[in-house]
Amino acid sequence: MLEIIKYPSSELKKISEAVSVFDSHLHSFLDELAQTMYGANGVGLAAPQVGKLIRAFVIDVAPQEDKKRRLYEFINPKIVSGEGKISFEEGCLSIPGFSEEVERKAKIALEYQDRFGNRQEMTAENLLAVAIQHENDHLDGILFIDRLSPLKRTLMRRKLSKAVTF
Ligand code: CO
Repeated sequence: MLEIIKYPSSELKKISEAVSVFDSHLHSFLDELAQTMYGANGVGLAAPQVGKLIRAFVIDVAPQEDKKRRLYEFINPKIVSGEGKISFEEGCLSIPGFSEEVERKAKIALEYQDRFGNRQEMTAENLLAVAIQHENDHLDGILFIDRLSPLKRTLMRRKLSKAVTF
């Protein structure tokens, strides 16, 4: 398991760089990233959350009890279009103990590369679309709390400051 960096570390605000080498080092890192996500019971985890500033993340939105897991790996992703709106209560492995509703695009089209560097494209909607937008934000140093309204953010700061009791 890799160590997950927690808010308010400034590491989470950094911009990640494009992946250019698709070798066995990348593959083992992606495997570890997925193991760390599953171990932490998350539905997504981005490379910068474990201190590696590369444009890559993993997602699996299948329910925990579902034996048929579906692991997605996205490298150098680019959201090329989006439509509709969806509000979903989001949490983040880097901000334990806090969740809030965030509004995102309901349906997106995405271009990315797989672990071998092959160019891929897909469309996603609902929970998968939300997860992709959340993780993609991490690559640009944006957290879901940055997407809250100013009022909700103030309430959040109060909640978070109460949550840290050690
Ligand atoms: Co997150």
